[in-house]
Amino acid sequence: MATYPTKRLRRLRYNPLLRDMVRETELSKNDFIYPLFVVPGSKIRKPIKSMPGVFQLSIDELVKECKEVEALGIPAIILFGIPEHKDEVGSEAYDPNGIIQKAIRAIKEEVKNLLVITDVCMCEYTSHGHCGILNGEEILNDETVELLVKESVSHAKAGADIIAPSDMMDGRIAAIRKGLDENGFTKIPILSYAAKFSSGYYGPFRDAAESAPAFGDRRSHQMDIANGDEALREVEADIEEGADIVMVKPAGPYLDIIRRVKDKFGMPTCAYQVSGEYAMIKAAGQNGWIDEERVMIESLIAIKRAGADMFLTYFAKDAARWIDKNKK
Ligand code: PBG
Ligand code: ZN
Repeated sequence: MATYPTKRLRRLRYNPLLRDMVRETELSKNDFIYPLFVVPGSKIRKPIKSMPGVFQLSIDELVKECKEVEALGIPAIILFGIPEHKDEVGSEAYDPNGIIQKAIRAIKEEVKNLLVITDVCMCEYTSHGHCGILNGEEILNDETVELLVKESVSHAKAGADIIAPSDMMDGRIAAIRKGLDENGFTKIPILSYAAKFSSGYYGPFRDAAESAPAFGDRRSHQMDIANGDEALREVEADIEEGADIVMVKPAGPYLDIIRRVKDKFGMPTCAYQVSGEYAMIKAAGQNGWIDEERVMIESLIAIKRAGADMFLTYFAKDAARWIDKNKK
């Protein structure tokens, strides 16, 4: 094997054209999923303090936003709903006239070239902010799964293209698959939040979705941040139950998990660059401590290099514009 001075790794780095040729990882708009938050009312565009550039949108504003996303060439959005009324069992999650159901119908009427993914969980809809039905302080698994099935089917009936359960209850993928199939939605894919960690990086999201738990935390269903092997078992379970795409969440601090999942299963693999990852880059950028655009791109390239085929990111619009600006 040749070594220095015959071998010189810098040889491929002097010329920018050559650097472009040997680049291994490239961002594509096809990889982007843009998260959006929808609220009741009209003409509402309320900024989320901890997530500069992100808004709670009423349906009329949401449709405008979707048109912009479509025009930028981003293929998909994921919807989170803030309901009119919250209750113990999160009824609005599976109400045919719930906020998400109405939002999907409005988007589908006016925006043709956009995949609508819906987040399926109970925490935005329950008065206590937990991801399922409670017995005392315990989140009941199987009873919650039944509601998640209802929620998923009702999203599909409203016109959702992809169902994305984010709850981390056991057995929900099989149950949702069965529920969708029994209702004629055999062609609707499931994007499963398969390895979702109990992470401090979700803080800003809980402001945006008004979904912070009233007591306790999510450690009885979301994964312990320290566990990698267990993440593979979670992903395996979801694949066996019928998940079409598997997600790792958060993304940046869990690149090792993304890589292991991709290598082990070879499945379409998604990652979620979550609210806290976004907020940190934004805050440091606004302070002039880092170059926001550069770190944004670096963070997304890292997620893709780790093995993600697609990702959810609040930077989707900015990154799409960056691609337009930099394409040759
Ligand atoms: C709901 C849900 C959460 C996120 C996506 N879906 C919050 C949570 O689990 O508390 C977090 C996304 C983000 O931080 O950007 N279960
Ligand atoms: Zn939840």
